[in-house]
Amino acid sequence: MKKDLISILDIRDELEEIIDLAIELKKKQKIGEVFEPLKNRSMGMIFEKPSTRTRVSFEVAMTQLGGHALYLSPRDMQLGRGETIADTAKVLSRYVDIIIYRAYKHEMMLELAKNATIPVVNALDDMEHPCQIVADLMTIKEKKGKFKGLKLAYVGDGNNVANSLMLGAAIVGMDFYIACPEGYEPNAELLEEAKKIAKEKETKIVITYDPKEAVKDADVIYTDVWVSMGDEAEKEKRMKVFAPYQVNEELVKLAKGDYIFMHCLPAHRGYEVTDGVIDSRNSVVFDEAENRLHAQKAIILKLVKH
Ligand code: CP
Ligand code: NVA
Repeated sequence: MKKDLISILDIRDELEEIIDLAIELKKKQKIGEVFEPLKNRSMGMIFEKPSTRTRVSFEVAMTQLGGHALYLSPRDMQLGRGETIADTAKVLSRYVDIIIYRAYKHEMMLELAKNATIPVVNALDDMEHPCQIVADLMTIKEKKGKFKGLKLAYVGDGNNVANSLMLGAAIVGMDFYIACPEGYEPNAELLEEAKKIAKEKETKIVITYDPKEAVKDADVIYTDVWVSMGDEAEKEKRMKVFAPYQVNEELVKLAKGDYIFMHCLPAHRGYEVTDGVIDSRNSVVFDEAENRLHAQKAIILKLVKH
């Protein structure tokens, strides 16, 4: 049976194993060890929205594993001329071994996964961004050496990244606080799920409207853009609503002295985060971005039979 990665919940039981594999693969690459278990395998990458990190890290990951990646823009495919996502899924399943999909709509992601006979990976949709969170958790493990007992504070929009991060934090056993404006909380169903997991792990999931409460004594501070891809029409309103949620030098003083700052990137400097924070010694954003590559390799290896 094929396995998909649509929600981070899909790899709940294997998450820590995937993180450890990613750390292992990073070590292999650093010592120049060639590891090509996916020779003659192909990956199809359908991207409806722009991407720098996800696209490049997946393509390079597949190349380094010995396989081949095809970037497929819907504009250049028959998908852009009305062929259904279901038919596209069935056809691509006859050629490639795995599909990576960045979609506007979660329903399209589910439709593609339902009709593909090969693994489908969510490279971001309006609900989740699971691959990002695998790399983020890998980064936290590298920097802090553990998950248990850590407090992660997410400040900003309860968006796709926040949804997956909340679930990921619960799965590995970190306390998760989110400070967001009223009406911009994470998805209600996923919140319930995260709370259930946190209860089992005896950790906390806290939603607050006060950034100071979230950041106080935090080990990790995380933020993301105020205007996600697809939210552009609400830009003006969002800029006002989110202004009190900026991660700046004043706010981070409340965190632990050795806190780390994380951001999935791209950052909008001067909005959700100031230069003083993102360029500080506490910031790990570029290690986090690098880890996308190692995490993608671990994800691909976990899903593609070899
Ligand atoms: N963090 C992330 O997914 O970045 P891209 O949009 O550049 O892929
Ligand atoms: N929340 C952002 C993440 C970008 C990587 C978006 O969806 O645009």
